[in-house]
Amino acid sequence: MTLIQDFGGVRVRAPGKINVFLAVGGRHDDGYHELATAFQAVSLYEDVVATASDELTISVTGDVDIAGVPEDESNLALRAARLLAEETGTRLGAHLDVRKAVPVAGGMGGGSADAAAALVACDALWGTGLAARELQELGARLGADVPFALMGGTAIGTGRGDRLNPALARGRFDWVLVESPFGLSTPDVYRELDRLREEEGAGASAPAVEATVLQALRAGDPEALAETLRNDLQEAALSLRPDLRALLDRGIARGAVAGLVSGSGPTVAFLAADAEQAKRLSRALRDEGLRAMRVHGPVHGARVV
Ligand code: C5P
Repeated sequence: MTLIQDFGGVRVRAPGKINVFLAVGGRHDDGYHELATAFQAVSLYEDVVATASDELTISVTGDVDIAGVPEDESNLALRAARLLAEETGTRLGAHLDVRKAVPVAGGMGGGSADAAAALVACDALWGTGLAARELQELGARLGADVPFALMGGTAIGTGRGDRLNPALARGRFDWVLVESPFGLSTPDVYRELDRLREEEGAGASAPAVEATVLQALRAGDPEALAETLRNDLQEAALSLRPDLRALLDRGIARGAVAGLVSGSGPTVAFLAADAEQAKRLSRALRDEGLRAMRVHGPVHGARVV
């Protein structure tokens, strides 16, 4: 059986994510922080189409502003393809056509989804046939969120966020995302968190995902999840982008059951009681001139479509 599709290439789709719980512990010497997080993959996808080529090249297009996305060797999808080629010793090449829908530098793991999709696409195109576990291991070397973009669904992440355990989740959760016209740099947000903690003389305790989060996910209960949403990066993101505070209040005033900054931000995720409420909320926010979109989770991880 060949995985090459009719058009002579492979198309892979990988999801963006929301951290419904993100506890940040201390900073290690390598600059990374100890995390305990609950990820939910949501229905906003990056597509990567890999076609055979003598070299490794990339082009990027998208429904979102792609101004900040490099099309050179520093692009994470291209680095993923190169890493896979090096590790498997293949001499084959590929052209990667990345189509972005996840906001760039938005805190939703769009770059990580590109890398996950590129790994799966090139593995299929080149017939290198790595096991899921091997792809996860390569993914972790590319970025802390890449293993989750491969796995999808709902999962608990520890370590840098790259040590994953699937979590049980029932039903579906409806979210309204509000995109920001400017991105935030993830390292900047972590640095700001360190600065705020130093200023407050607050030490970081060992992070753990609270049992109430797992219960809410397992029950498929948005009201219960609303009570347990937490993002330790939110204070740092709001410190760099104070305008997001008013946005959070606005979403709640328009009926969201809860709102939080997604990952390192600046995308804000509002949890709705159901699909109908999400529809009303996104319409209301859009009427006010905001870039609001409706998504749901959990959804599958990177896979050939
Ligand atoms: O692994 P990734 O490239 O996605 O991480 C981007 C940046 O986010 C890191 O360079 C680091 O500054 C910060 N980070 C962190 N601790 C983590 C994950 C990311 O400090 N667990």
